[in-house]
Amino acid sequence: MDYLVQYSSLTRSLPPLSLLVLLSVTTTITATATIPAETTTTATFNVTALTFAESYSTLFSEFNIQRSPDDKTVRLLLNRFSGSGIISSDYFNYGFFSASIKMPSEHTAGIVVAFYTSNVDTFERNHDELDIEFLGNTNGKPWRFQTNMYGNGSVSRGREERYRMWFDPSKDSHRYSILWNPKHIIFYVDNVPIREVIHNPFMRGDYPSKPMSIYATIWDASSWATNGGREKVNYQFEPFVTEFTDLVLEGCIVDPNEQILSTNCTDSIEALIAKDYSSISSQGYKSMKWFREKYMYYSYCYDNVRYPVPPPECVIVPSEREMFKTTGRLREKFRYTGSHRHHRGRSSRRRSNRSVASG
Ligand SMILES: *[C@@H]1O[C@H](CO)[C@@H](O)[C@H](O)[C@H]1NC(C)=O
Ligand SMILES: *[C@@H]1O[C@H](CO)[C@@H](O)[C@H](O)[C@H]1NC(C)=O
Ligand SMILES: *[C@@H]1O[C@H](CO)[C@@H](O)[C@H](O)[C@H]1NC(C)=O
Ligand SMILES: *[C@@H]1O[C@H](CO)[C@@H](O)[C@H](O)[C@H]1NC(C)=O
Repeated sequence: MDYLVQYSSLTRSLPPLSLLVLLSVTTTITATATIPAETTTTATFNVTALTFAESYSTLFSEFNIQRSPDDKTVRLLLNRFSGSGIISSDYFNYGFFSASIKMPSEHTAGIVVAFYTSNVDTFERNHDELDIEFLGNTNGKPWRFQTNMYGNGSVSRGREERYRMWFDPSKDSHRYSILWNPKHIIFYVDNVPIREVIHNPFMRGDYPSKPMSIYATIWDASSWATNGGREKVNYQFEPFVTEFTDLVLEGCIVDPNEQILSTNCTDSIEALIAKDYSSISSQGYKSMKWFREKYMYYSYCYDNVRYPVPPPECVIVPSEREMFKTTGRLREKFRYTGSHRHHRGRSSRRRSNRSVASG
């Protein structure tokens, strides 16, 4: 297993320098946002949680991985010696991947927690990837997160969206999920669908289609994660602990080394498509609209500087279009209450901490 490849893949999944300004905007939430009724009444997914042994194994730094006695909860630690990471024991040809995650609390500047799917270790040059990445922040400021997608090595076409949250993710566990089937991809926070990518034939290979593994990691991204790299991880507060539980991996398990898959996934993909989490109800679409109008602060679909013609899967929603400038960033009147402090310094290069990866 080549961790450096994993990390360089994740690095490429991060947005270009032009987005660094966004990262450095510090926002004070007035915390008056409430979850609409339709969100809270949505039933929970019909899924079965697995133990760690049934679902994952160590990716790196076993000494920083703690499993609960019942093996249903795993803690990933970051300390001055290393971050840590786990990887699903199987490859999935489409599936639903989910975990309830609690972020480290208080001093989280410079930290990144990632929950993502990838196959970069088997398809180095034309890999697929689906990301949820959480960016730590200065004490008392809100966490932010982003989702992204690559298909068949389309790393030059970032498809990032960035958001705030309607809760403090370090207070309690919340479920984060990635649904991936041949028809669409849905990212969920709890039961709220926050992003849907509908498979469009014009996307060609940009739609992930090869078997992927699932990863969870915590690592030191001091060089870029918080205020353009000006705020580093402060190891006075180590270890930084993120807790994963309710581990769910559902889908067609395959051997990634076979050129022609001997496992026939037709039936299990059909079963996947029939599952509750594979379709969004009209209430779900309402919740998604609520979330995106209130909490999304960057979308590649509205970034005409990067994409004069939006990529083919982009559905231009008038209410979203109105929110964003042609850079995909929020217009002033849609900004949240609070102070905005912009990054003044020189831009720092986005890269992960290789010494962590090789440790
Ligand atoms: C939940 O899923 C199981 C297994 O897939 C299925 O047998 C059961 O009928 C489902 N329950 C509901 C309420 O959909
Ligand atoms: C990378 O990690 C090592 C060990 O965890 C740490 O000593 C070093 O300061 C980190 N470097 C950066 C740039 O974050
Ligand atoms: C995926 O990438 C490979 C290698 O770059 C290329 O040969 C192939 O045509 C691509 N597939 C699709 C569906 O675009
Ligand atoms: C896979 O299974 C489906 C449904 O059971 C069947 O129709 C199809 O012919 C099978 N494909 C192969 C390549 O065996």
